[in-house]
Amino acid sequence: MTQTEKLRLGVNIDHVATVRNARGGAYPDPLRAAKIAEKAGADGITAHLREDRRHISDADIEGLMEVLSVPLNFEMAATPEMQKIALRHKPHAVCIVPEKREERTTEGGLEVAREENRLAHFIAPLREAGSRVSIFIAADRRQIEAANRIGAEVIELHTGAYCDAFAEGRWAEAQGELKKLEDMAAFADDLGLEVHAGHGLTYDTVSPVAAFPQVRELNIGHFLIGEAIFLGLEPAIAEMRRLMDEARE
Ligand code: PXP
Repeated sequence: MTQTEKLRLGVNIDHVATVRNARGGAYPDPLRAAKIAEKAGADGITAHLREDRRHISDADIEGLMEVLSVPLNFEMAATPEMQKIALRHKPHAVCIVPEKREERTTEGGLEVAREENRLAHFIAPLREAGSRVSIFIAADRRQIEAANRIGAEVIELHTGAYCDAFAEGRWAEAQGELKKLEDMAAFADDLGLEVHAGHGLTYDTVSPVAAFPQVRELNIGHFLIGEAIFLGLEPAIAEMRRLMDEARE
């Protein structure tokens, strides 16, 4: 793997749906946001269909499958309901995430090591249907090895701990988390896994992660949708794209 390979940007549009759902109407439309994201340089669109449908809806997923020119990365919990939906749509990629009803966002990575058997059986039909299966995990050797054993092709490293430490000014901790991400990206790459990363990334935190040569894709949502209020969605995404490309050079 070389440093010159392009780093892909997946734009997560969940929080366009959060704002829409605050009023229960049709605006703002996540599909329109997805098309603007494509224009702004997104290489993929990410959407998380939660069990409680707090943001993205079933109809959004159906619409995205119809209108997107770039691949859809469908985030979901490892439940029979979500498996059925993924098998119906056969998105380009499925990212398995942990989900708790009471959480505000996806807290921590999936516990793969303790659930190896169940998860291996869970992802097998998704892979057979042609979706690339990614597992969202902490930068933890045990979890990476388990993800590899169950047959995942991709892991997405949770960057939340790094971003939280950075945001709260705990610099030494942020550096420590960054080092863990760097080491674990290299470890996963050596095992033959494709490495993605995401959660909580901003203009201030993206560059060091984007510079890891083994990281092939970043998935970024909440910050970009917030920044779009001030800059507009297309410029907000274009700036993230620019920072990623600059870090990669
Ligand atoms: N990657 C995964 C697996 C996620 O669950 C999320 C949040 O939905 C993201 C990336 C994007 O995180 P954020 O919205 O904080 O940028």
